Amino acid sequence: MNSVKKIADKIFWIGGSDRRLQRFENLFPIPEGVSYNSYFIDDEKTAVFDTADVTIADQYLENLKKALDGRKLDYLVVLHMEPDHCSQIDKVTALFPDVTVVASKQAFVFMSQFFPESQNFNKLEVKEGDTLTTGEHTFTFVAAPMVHWPEVLLAYDDKAKALLSADAFGTFGALDGGIFADEYDFERDFLDSARRYYSNIVGKYGAQVQAVLKKAHGLDIQMILPLHGPVWRKDLGVLLEKYQKWSTYESEQDGVIVVYGSLYGHTASAAEAVAASLRDKGAKDVRVLDVSGTDVSYLISEVWRVKKIVLMCPTYNGGVYPPMENFITDMAALSVQNRVFALAQNGTWAPATAKPMSDKLSLLKNVTVLETILTFKSALHASDEEALNNFTDAIINA
Ligand code: FEO
Repeated sequence: MNSVKKIADKIFWIGGSDRRLQRFENLFPIPEGVSYNSYFIDDEKTAVFDTADVTIADQYLENLKKALDGRKLDYLVVLHMEPDHCSQIDKVTALFPDVTVVASKQAFVFMSQFFPESQNFNKLEVKEGDTLTTGEHTFTFVAAPMVHWPEVLLAYDDKAKALLSADAFGTFGALDGGIFADEYDFERDFLDSARRYYSNIVGKYGAQVQAVLKKAHGLDIQMILPLHGPVWRKDLGVLLEKYQKWSTYESEQDGVIVVYGSLYGHTASAAEAVAASLRDKGAKDVRVLDVSGTDVSYLISEVWRVKKIVLMCPTYNGGVYPPMENFITDMAALSVQNRVFALAQNGTWAPATAKPMSDKLSLLKNVTVLETILTFKSALHASDEEALNNFTDAIINA
């Protein structure tokens, strides 16, 4: 059954949702599913902006045929060559041999790499500032390099005042029948997924997102049409404000996360004591997270949310417990900035993880690693109460 949705005059959503994929990019768990959005323009000329992932190919092609309703496809616009949006290019160009594929110079290079045997179609190369007119609608292309691939274009339609934003402003999460963000309680249904999507996929490229936000500032945008998640037609400021914070590495909330590694439960018990002490001293937003049991993409999302991060780590093979090492490596890879870290180390004969953790964290920009370290042997006991107090005082006062 087709699932075509009208978005605005002559603009239709022809995407689909996948609830079976376990991991996006074979990396990030997506129990909430994911949507792949594609947009059809039913103007004097017909156009499609992006295709979809291979996992929803049947639904996507059914939607495209329904939207066309017997017309031929004039343009296939490719804003971004990542396979979750371009997997159907060879199928679409085979179905509509007269179609003109519209893309950037670099996107055509990537297209030839992904589809070396399907290159016999009309090509129209576009760059920033170029336009494509389909009749009543004229789309102006805006370059968005490294958000989060190098060849990314966005397209602005000044009739619908709509920004087709590629991966920017997208989110994990399948669509539950509604296509617009205002059909949902976005904060309840999508905000955590949007943050996890942004921080893990685009998080490294804050400067590039800032450049796009500055370009967008000069446009009269009343709709945002991303490649994942719902379409925005109301309260765009909610999303833009989040993107402003996320892309400048400013924490969203004044919270604390206590991330611990624990082989047998002793460091876990100490983490609970740290959290309780922080609450006793007035901290209102404290979350305790097991570095082994929590997928690192969720930890990264929490890092984008809060200002203060407590890392509590046992010694393992003379170094940092491997899941904690992986978490710190991921933070470094994603260019985490503007955060306060507090470190605790445990070891039965050699608690020695604060220094290697601190050395790595010190390489991050605008990061403070508190000098007060909590060190304990095997387990935290009542005799460590003063040390615990000093540790949580330092976190509260940071
Ligand atoms: Fe949703 Fe960069 O692909």
